[in-house]
Amino acid sequence: MTEPIYSPAPDRYESGMTYRRSGRSGLLMSALSLGFWHNFGSISDFQNCKAMMHCAFDNGITCFDLANNYGPLYGTAEETFGRLMDVSMRPYRDEMFITTKAGYDMWPGPYGNWGSRKYLISSLDQSLRRMHLDYVDLFYSHRYDPETPLEETLQALVDIVRRGKALYVGISRWPMEAASFAYRYLRERDVPCLCYQGKHNLLVRDDDDINLAADNGAGYVGFSPLEQGLLSGRYLNGIPTDSRMARREHLTSDRLTPELLDKIRSLNEVASQRGESLARMSLAWVLANPKVSSVIIGTSSVEQMKDNLQVLKSAPFSTEELQRIESILK
Ligand SMILES: NC(=O)c1ccc[n+]([C@@H]2O[C@H](COP(=O)([O-])OP(=O)(O)OC[C@H]3O[C@@H](n4cnc5c(N)ncnc54)[C@H](OP(=O)(O)O)[C@@H]3O)[C@@H](O)[C@H]2O)c1
Repeated sequence: MTEPIYSPAPDRYESGMTYRRSGRSGLLMSALSLGFWHNFGSISDFQNCKAMMHCAFDNGITCFDLANNYGPLYGTAEETFGRLMDVSMRPYRDEMFITTKAGYDMWPGPYGNWGSRKYLISSLDQSLRRMHLDYVDLFYSHRYDPETPLEETLQALVDIVRRGKALYVGISRWPMEAASFAYRYLRERDVPCLCYQGKHNLLVRDDDDINLAADNGAGYVGFSPLEQGLLSGRYLNGIPTDSRMARREHLTSDRLTPELLDKIRSLNEVASQRGESLARMSLAWVLANPKVSSVIIGTSSVEQMKDNLQVLKSAPFSTEELQRIESILK
């Protein structure tokens, strides 16, 4: 049976999504980005991937975050993305801000990992082929490489922009000293670092990287805002069989200690008193920092995405609520 052609919601830019400037650039990011790390690989149901993509776009999400090795299997989240471009999203390419990365192990041998020019440039070429794109909007160095001269990695980023394969570049998980060097090196070559991507959530704070990015005119994009689902209602009553923890994908059950569960339960009470889910409150807490340009959510269903989108209606935190949250987590 032929599927109906996708028509995005006509009111997608009036449905409550906000857009935040990335540092001192001209680029606005949707406050929520959709991440493809999990739930979009070759083991995932394509119809569900498509439903989540359309739900995101219909609700004003314009930023989509990928990496060469997202899946599982490696590369297959980018392939799913390419399929989504082909089946429905291609007419909206100019409304989308698409990012990918390289830095972790991707293919065997000495050229498929870390930060050499050889790896970064060939990896981006592969990503573009998988995603069926001519260029990405932003290419990230996914991690700092202590053994490659920083100049080599950074010059590869500069050249990627000069060749038109990415419009902007960014860094993720670089230690502060190396990040300072990167901000300076890129600025001096007129390819300023658009943003830093790091993990910032109620359990894992990244204030130093956020402030360093802001001081250098770069934005900050936060990943794993729910600490992979721990900061939601997902594990309040055991480990659901369809959860990331049950699948043992980067989240193992030893994380769920009785102490942590107590904290999650107490946080959930604060969220209930605010009239929202714990996931929504956890996202609201990250977005309360105006230096955060966008928060990348990961979802396994449209229901989760709709819950997370409700954060756009969240009330600001009162001083008492913030104090209560801090006393739970200390
Ligand atoms: N730069 C880097 O090194 C790096 C590292 C990690 C991630 N990232 C990026 O950040 C993105 C997000 O990371 P993440 O997936 O770890 O984000 P996350 O938001 O911390 O965790 C997502 C998981 O939380 C659960 N969840 C989401 N919304 C929920 C809701 N409303 N209620 C209950 N459970 C909910 C789902 O778990 P279930 O699957 O169990 O349903 C979902 O898969 C990635 O896709 C990637 O783009 C970047």
